[in-house]
Amino acid sequence: MLPSAVEELLRYANPLNHATDRYTLEPVEIGGVTIPAREWVLCVTSSANHDPSRFGSPDALDVGRDAGGHLAFGHGIHYCLGAPLARLEGEVAFGALLARFPNLSLAAPAATLRWRPSSLIHGLESLPVRLC
Ligand code: HEM
Repeated sequence: MLPSAVEELLRYANPLNHATDRYTLEPVEIGGVTIPAREWVLCVTSSANHDPSRFGSPDALDVGRDAGGHLAFGHGIHYCLGAPLARLEGEVAFGALLARFPNLSLAAPAATLRWRPSSLIHGLESLPVRLC
């Protein structure tokens, strides 16, 4: 399940909350709202990845789901150049960790884990684990 687990973790946790800066060259209508020309736009891809009209029960982590089409690596002309490498690294790292420590488990109550206070980078402040 490693390939689908990596996709789901990318969708669910969104290592980057949003894309880099965008500016409108002309008025753009999205969802009934018109953004005027020459406005700064922040595309919050983590919100799109939790869109219930695209992913059922979006706030549940389900490593068996088909998370294809998520926006964790962006979209279009600036799509992440490193996406294939990042996917491979995820599969190799999680695969090696689980093979070496099959009983890996959380060493703190899930409710005590805290996300780092950052608008762009989305990650935990710490992730205590029990190896055996
Ligand atoms: C989990 C790991 C990674 C995530 C979540 C990620 C995410 C992203 C996202 C969302 C963008 C698009 C930004 C935008 O549209 O404004 C991007 C662009 C980019 N990423 Fe990644 N990235 C990852 C790993 C990597 C790695 C490993 C490399 C290089 C080895 C890399 C190189 C790049 C480059 C060069 C761009 C700019 C592409 C362009 O502007 O045309 N990324 N990345």
